[in-house]
This record gives sequence, C-alpha cells and structure tokens, in this order.
Amino acid sequence: MNPVKIGLLGLGTVGGGTATVLKRNAEEIARRAGRGIIVDYAATLEPARAEELGLPDLRITEEAFDVVNDPDISIVVELIGGYSPAKELVLQAIENGKHVVTANKALIAVHGNEIFARAQEKGVIVAFEAAVAGGIPIIKALREGLAANKIEWLAGIINGTGNFILTEMRDKGRAFDDVLKEAQELGYAEADPTFDVEGIDAAHKLSILSSIAFGIPLQVEKTYTEGISKISREDVTYASELGYNIKHLGIARRTEEGIEQRVHPTMIPKTRLIANVNGVMNAVLVNGDAVGHTLYYGAGAGDEPTASAVVADVIDIVRALTTDPENRVPHLAFQPDELTDTPIVLMDSIETAFYLRMRAVNHAGVLAEVTKILGDRSISIEAFIQKEPTEDVDKADIILLTHRVNEGDMNAAIKEIEALDVITGEIMRIRVESLK
Ligand code: HSE
Repeated sequence: MNPVKIGLLGLGTVGGGTATVLKRNAEEIARRAGRGIIVDYAATLEPARAEELGLPDLRITEEAFDVVNDPDISIVVELIGGYSPAKELVLQAIENGKHVVTANKALIAVHGNEIFARAQEKGVIVAFEAAVAGGIPIIKALREGLAANKIEWLAGIINGTGNFILTEMRDKGRAFDDVLKEAQELGYAEADPTFDVEGIDAAHKLSILSSIAFGIPLQVEKTYTEGISKISREDVTYASELGYNIKHLGIARRTEEGIEQRVHPTMIPKTRLIANVNGVMNAVLVNGDAVGHTLYYGAGAGDEPTASAVVADVIDIVRALTTDPENRVPHLAFQPDELTDTPIVLMDSIETAFYLRMRAVNHAGVLAEVTKILGDRSISIEAFIQKEPTEDVDKADIILLTHRVNEGDMNAAIKEIEALDVITGEIMRIRVESLK
C-alpha cells in the first residue's frame, strides 16, 4: 500500500519534533499503522528548516493554504497555533475532505464546537491529543480507556510553564520574571506568555478535558480563570510550612448544581502524588466511579513530547482511514447528539478551604477582630501562623488556613477584613484542595 502523505502547517518546535519522530521511528510507526507515513509538504516561513531537520526532499511553501489544498495530502497537521489563520486553514482542510491533527488548544477550546460539527458533516476526523498536557495521552484515556466510568472529577497541572515557574520559585528562590524568560527560551511558553501566567492556556485545556469527561459542549468562556502572577515567594514558603505545595490546577467536578470548571493556584497536601509533580511536567488526576483515582504524568510541553501525541493521532487516523465515519470515537467522547446542557456552576457557589495571608498592625486585639468576622460567617480556622515582616517590624503577617467554606461567604468576609483599619493592603487568598 502507498504511504499516507501528511502536510505540516508550521515547522517550529512541535513541527520539527513531529518531522523528526516520524522519520526516526518510520519503521515502527508503519508496523503499527499498517502503512508508511511520510511528511510530504510543509508550510514554513523558514525554508532552511527542511535542510536543518535532514529532510531535503520535503516540499516547502510559505503559503499554508497550498498544503491544505494539495490533492496528495490526506492528513493536515496544524501546528501554527493561535486562532487565525489556524481556524480558516482547519475548516478549509475539512472542506477538502482531509483529516486534521492539531496541537492548538486555543483553537479547539474556542472554536471546537463549530469545527467538530463541520468535521462530522464531512465525515473526517479532527484529532487533538497534543492540545492538552503535551505528551500525556489524557484525551485517549478519558475518551476510551475510562469510557465505562461516570467521571466524578479531574484535577490537572496542565501548564508546564506555570509549573516550572512555581517549582523554581520554591526550590531555588528564583524571581518570577527570570524563570519565565527561561521557559520562553526553552520553547515551553506561549507566544503571548500571559496565556501561561494568567491561566488562559490552562483554561483552554481544562474546558477540553471537562467537555470530554462530562459530555458537555466546550465552554471555555465559563471557566473561572486565575493565574499565578500574584503568588509570592512568601506564599510558597508559608504553604510549605503548613504542609502544602502550591500548584496551578485546572479542576472540573460534577456536582448536584452542575459542573465546576475552574483554574487557579491551589494548595495541595505535600503527601499527594500530584503535589510532587515539578518543573515543566504535567499531571492529570481523574476520579471515575468504577476505577477510582488514576493519575497520568508526563512532559506537558516541548518538541518531541508534544510530537509524540501528534504522531499518535496521525497513526490513529491512518488506522481509521477505511472505517465508517459513524463508528469512530466521537470527537468529544460522547455522541454529538448526546451532549447535555448541564450548567457550569458560578464560582460563588463552590466550596473549598482557603489560605489567607494579610498584613496587620502588630498590637493586641487585631487577631480577635479578624477571627470575629470569620466566626460570624461560620468560617472555621484550621491553622494559624504569625510572622514578622523583615521590612516592617511594626506589622505582622497573619497566615490562616480555614476549613471548607462557601466561596461567596469567603469573598464577603475578605472584603470586611480588608476594610478594617488594622489591615493594610489586599488579602492574598489561595484555595486549598485535599483531592481525596
Ligand atoms: N505553554 C504551554 C505550557 C505549552 O507551558 O504548558 C504546552 O501546551
């Protein structure tokens, strides 16, 4: 049988990794797929990349639509990223009857509902394993391996750059900006790094996981999104003293009111495996009613780890080329007409424990004022630390850990405490999850 020809849109970090892996493992891949797979055509603004990657026969163009419209290409691999022209290219590929593989989480999270509907009509596959958690096959695990389960919740470290920053701050006391710069140099960070540090990238990924876990349409716009940019070195240290690590988590949970879909810094007991996932590594913890807890761990970014997921998708498509479109694994795990309108719950109604850090005047009665406000709202305190800030000996940093409390009640209490004369500045709060 003739080899399947694929076209790459982009020959950057992931595009280069994909071409390299396909070339290096060509024999094994052909034995798995049942046919050879060759990178035949690539769109790049740097034509010298083909030579660099040791692919002198690769056809190169600067115009990505040339690849999408090329009749020889069966599978288009979109690795450009961003919304436009990625969306137009993917829709054109679908229109041309081509299957698509993409690593573009932003595209899938924001335009996935439209893209999958069009792919369904045209009987083609749009595969996106590489869009979430890099090389970890979490889409396949949720969509296929855990298909027997009612998923109760999942929690993931799904942004490698953010995890790298938090780990370096904790272990080496490095400054935030310095670590971010290194993540950019290593090719982990997004083109716009605010996507990493403000939680947008994680929100894209979480909305994809949530949709696949619970059988709901993609709703990234309803994801509560908070990044790591306000986390200080002190918070990292105090969390550690209290027995916790701070991780940037995406959490999706089924509740009686609907689905929680939230991304924010989270304190996790150090004893949990996921609390010890460090550096650029990602991990997703999934709780299914039949299987219980399962944990998926691996590199969340980088050239070959991401290529591992891209190439696996390509192999899946090659295996499915002759199958009936109606009998393929649905894009969002559930049959398209079986997606439900279960609401995404508002953040005010969720329940978590909290870490609070506030700066107070250092005199008698201050703590009583703070605890009275919490007590009046039935917010119970689990642990307490007081520190003297080095730069201001007349002040005290008060660090509190609460029991589980309704988020709306906590917000109201924080407002009241911040209004006290004895408190200066804003209160830092971090949600705490036991992940039991
Ligand atoms: N910027 C992303 C991260 C790349 O750091 O996880 C992988 O999606």
